[in-house]
Amino acid sequence: MKHLIDPTDLTREETDAIVALGEDIIENREKYSHVMDGKKLATLFYEPSTRTRLSFTAAMMELGGNVLGFSDARSSSVSKGETVEDTVRVVGCFADIIAMRHFLEGAPLAASAVSKVPIINAGDGSHSHPTQTLTDLLTIKRELGRLNDLTIGFCGDLRFGRTVHSLIKALSRYEGIRVVLIAPDELRLPDYIIQDVCVKNGIPYREVRTMEEVLPELDILYMTRVQKERFLDEDEFDRIKDSFILDCEKMKLAKEKMAVLHPLPRVNEILKEVDDDPRAAYFRQVENGKFVRMALLCKLIKWKDEPGHETPALEESGIKLIDPFGWHCSNPKCICNNEQIRPLFRMSGSGIERCVYCDTKARRN
Ligand code: CP
Repeated sequence: MKHLIDPTDLTREETDAIVALGEDIIENREKYSHVMDGKKLATLFYEPSTRTRLSFTAAMMELGGNVLGFSDARSSSVSKGETVEDTVRVVGCFADIIAMRHFLEGAPLAASAVSKVPIINAGDGSHSHPTQTLTDLLTIKRELGRLNDLTIGFCGDLRFGRTVHSLIKALSRYEGIRVVLIAPDELRLPDYIIQDVCVKNGIPYREVRTMEEVLPELDILYMTRVQKERFLDEDEFDRIKDSFILDCEKMKLAKEKMAVLHPLPRVNEILKEVDDDPRAAYFRQVENGKFVRMALLCKLIKWKDEPGHETPALEESGIKLIDPFGWHCSNPKCICNNEQIRPLFRMSGSGIERCVYCDTKARRN
């Protein structure tokens, strides 16, 4: 059985197969309209969502399957204190596959360790969002015709922006990728992504202060929202919320073939006037999200009983686990600090012990 918790849970070949299936579904909708007859998807959303939850729902319905679940955990037994592990054990009795969004980082990974059905991470805190990544890959492929030889500028909240973390990881497996990071100091890309993804894979990256200085060289401009909900200090949020705003004047600096992506929702980082520019791909990106999730559901259900597509248990995954005795995860928003989950740490590529659930640096007790 294969779960999708992190984009690198899929090999590059599996990723390409899902993107290619998404393209085929777009061309041959009717062919896929009954492939999930009798199957059920559970959507467990502990955090708000419009695109991800509804596109999963639409995807399963268009494949002929059914959907159950909750969009507000307060209406479930979570409000009585039921843990993530117990919840997925129960929901696995009713559904063939589960998509989970959680405000706690690492919650989908903890769920996958006890689940008897595939778990899809639909976004965990500021950590990871692998199905947005599949959406982004399909969009880049359709907009530019390729997934290699790209200069991609990530702009806005690169610190808490889980879609950015996941997309950089996924793109690091393609050839000729160059990354430009456009963010205020407070919202720089986390060091573990720079070290363990960019440096380790030889991805050229640079950090710049303005959009204008790099726009002419970009193939993709990936805009993100400064996320108010991730800030503890409202004054800090107010100070940096409008650091980067894309408007038609700035678009004049960009290549004719550049594509503007945004996972959405946007607030005011892309002015509405940009929407009519043919390079504004963010609403096409939303629709691609449904098709790629259709492809993902087909593949994960198919791979469930097929040898060669297993997600290894953490202990068997080949990563060096560190005895948790004497260490703790310093992230208060990690699942291992909020539920009775055994902390686990591994040695990262940069030689730093990190929490398996959220990638935060481990600390000695
Ligand atoms: N892109 C994205 O994850 O949007 P939602 O939060 O609306 O699901």
